[in-house]
Amino acid sequence: MLDGKKVLFSGMQATGNLTLGNYLGALKNWVNIADDYETFYSVVDMHSITIRQDPAELRKRARTLLTLYIAAGLDPERNCIYYQSHVSGHAELAWILNCFTYMGELNRMTQFKDKAAKHADNINAGLFTYPVLMAADILLYQADVVPVGIDQMQHLEITRDIAQRFNAIYGDVFTVPEIYLGKVGAKVMSLQDPSKKMSKSDENPNGSIYLMDDPDTVIRKFKRAVTDSEACVRYCDEQPGIRNLIDIYCASTGKTPAETEKEFEGKGYGDFKMAVGEAVVGVLKPLQDRFADLQKNKDYLDGIIKKNAEKAQYVSNKTLRKVQKKIGFPERVR
Ligand code: TYM
Repeated sequence: MLDGKKVLFSGMQATGNLTLGNYLGALKNWVNIADDYETFYSVVDMHSITIRQDPAELRKRARTLLTLYIAAGLDPERNCIYYQSHVSGHAELAWILNCFTYMGELNRMTQFKDKAAKHADNINAGLFTYPVLMAADILLYQADVVPVGIDQMQHLEITRDIAQRFNAIYGDVFTVPEIYLGKVGAKVMSLQDPSKKMSKSDENPNGSIYLMDDPDTVIRKFKRAVTDSEACVRYCDEQPGIRNLIDIYCASTGKTPAETEKEFEGKGYGDFKMAVGEAVVGVLKPLQDRFADLQKNKDYLDGIIKKNAEKAQYVSNKTLRKVQKKIGFPERVR
């Protein structure tokens, strides 16, 4: 609890171009539930360097991402939007939690296995302990709830395990967080291969809709989207391509799968794909326009970045000091 409200924490990596999956699976939910919580939304640039990054590019992407949080509808006066690297407690707590996390647990993380296979020439220790930094992010703010997509579920589970293990030794130090999954869009799949999640790092750009794609590109990608052989718009396991498009349509319009099936009864895939494309353009266009406006306002953004980093540092310090005391680090001399 902070100021009488439950606490929400979430973050995104400043790596690659944000996709519709990031938006529907996470960002959109962040905006929808923000008012009910005391919120911390971090641009997790420290996680990004587990994969080699070009410094200028990383800086640019981090700023773009922070601006996108605001463009998506998060008011930075009421939501603490900040860069992870500006708050020293993330790294400090991560070190401590490393000493309460087992190699065997980290070895089981599927994201580590996937990324290690993809970047075989750079399997660094940071990539391995990535989930511990994530646990530190969440536990530092005593978060009650963490809205993410399904792919982050395993990381949330290990965060809970670490918190419970620590609490069992030292008393109730950490709030044990709950995962928040949106009703729709928690796992948006590739438009080219519906068995794979839509991802920033997909080699095939036609599989992902990027938040900055212009309307023509969005429509073109949906027209090319892989569909199935039943030639009707039906929400079922046998039609993974169509099911994914229905999910995207529902997440973009607020309609249900049943309403969508009814709307497109007797119509072919072509009409449906066009409608999904248009619905997505309807979501992305206003976001892109707000982004363009915000980007022009450098001083405003700089002010937000400074103020929110100070707030995050202040709040996180309270947890960090408590943890340091519990584990027996010497008291500071004032
Ligand atoms: P990241 O940057 O990969 O993704 C950001 C958010 O987008 C969601 N997401 C998706 N949701 C639905 N369908 C998809 N195809 C899809 N792709 C991505 C992710 O689930 C996530 O919610 N490790 C995290 C970042 C992180 C974090 C944290 C999150 C670091 N510390 C603390 C929550 C709390 C990550 O790499 O997300």
